[in-house]
Amino acid sequence: MLTQRPRGMHDILPDEAPLWNEIEETARRMCARYGFVEVRTPVLEHTELFWRGVGETTDIVEKEMYTFTDRGGRSVTLRPEGTAGTVRAYVEHKFYGGSQPVKWFYIGPMFRYERPQAGRQRQFHQFGVEVFGADDPAADAEVIALGLDFLEAIGLTGLGLELNSVGCPTCRPVYRERLQAYYRPLQDRLCGDCRERLERNPLRLLDCKREICRSLAANAPQIGEVLCPACRVHDEGVRRHLDEADIAYRINPRLVRGLDYYTRTAFEVVEERIGAQGTVLGGGRYNGLVEEVGGPPTPGIGFAAGLERLILALRHRREDARAGADVDVFGIALGDEASVELTGWMRRLRRSGCRAVRSFEPKSLKAQLKAADRSGARWALILGEDERRRGVVILRNLAGGDQRELPGTELESWWTEETEHGGGQ
Ligand code: HAM
Repeated sequence: MLTQRPRGMHDILPDEAPLWNEIEETARRMCARYGFVEVRTPVLEHTELFWRGVGETTDIVEKEMYTFTDRGGRSVTLRPEGTAGTVRAYVEHKFYGGSQPVKWFYIGPMFRYERPQAGRQRQFHQFGVEVFGADDPAADAEVIALGLDFLEAIGLTGLGLELNSVGCPTCRPVYRERLQAYYRPLQDRLCGDCRERLERNPLRLLDCKREICRSLAANAPQIGEVLCPACRVHDEGVRRHLDEADIAYRINPRLVRGLDYYTRTAFEVVEERIGAQGTVLGGGRYNGLVEEVGGPPTPGIGFAAGLERLILALRHRREDARAGADVDVFGIALGDEASVELTGWMRRLRRSGCRAVRSFEPKSLKAQLKAADRSGARWALILGEDERRRGVVILRNLAGGDQRELPGTELESWWTEETEHGGGQ
């Protein structure tokens, strides 16, 4: 025990620290570009702040908080996220009395007692931003743009942005009722967690990861059907601003987020390659939160990105890039005669400058394609008995999945053309 760290908590050792610093510096640089200034709030807050702020029916508050009684008998909690504490600081120091908007960012550790797995820790770090005092859809678009520019600057390009509106206290109750009416007759088919959530927090049923719940969610009513006019106008505004800024997004009507404070805009950026915990950045608007925490009615919007997940995503990309740079063509032969002939094709390709590797033992096509994928090759050259007899080979593009047949005699000129079009080196 003495020499073991608590489960779900990690050391950041000296060999990793430079990458952390690089990411944090990029976050600071990007925030300066967008006019955000840094705030640092305590890791410990009064437990009530999270009950009120994050929401009593969320998984975070119900199951995941590190809560304890301090020596003075007060209930305190290690912050599970950054927004509630930031709102508390905004209200406590009366920033609402000064000029608006107030644009803050923070970087620091957060704590959630979750089941640890790849991309999910009990202590993790967030870079987050919050804008107080702006209800304009332009602010939503600015926050999203900052998030994407940050991701791009650290090397995570081309990630999908998902967008939704979760409505407001006017239209969400109508939606909740519609969802309950849809799900009640299906209750017996829901997973245990969802059955429990149905009465208290039915929106959460939409993003349950279990197969059966996902299939039921596919036909559930969508919030777009019941948004009130003001939410609709806001949502359209956000999209127009994003379009104008050339920011691509996918509307995901099942995107609801795990915190209760959201109103209207909700968004996430997902990197699927890092697995089930692929959301690298998430956020949204929270127009009721400042008031909930004791301040005057003040709109707000922000996001947070999980630094461990960003690092995981960067590692994946670097591995992909390395693998991709090593091999151009992976040769696959099916049958002994084809295997002999492949030896000839491989030699000719290599002499034309192509980086080609092959399978040696006769394995199934499936196993060899798997090996081809693992090698990072861009092309698989497939030679079966039938192709051999006809004097052709199959070239499959492993990234795109499309394939074509080529007379063997044209293989070298195909490769030369590939090289000229920037394919090889
Ligand atoms: P969240 O979606 O709960 O939102 O967390 C934001 C990001 O923190 C996630 O997308 C993920 O990258 C990372 N994260 C969350 N939990 C873990 C975990 N257990 N291990 C590793 N990474 C994790 C919020 O926290 C909101 N406060 C975001 C926000 C700011 N909304 C408005 N303003």
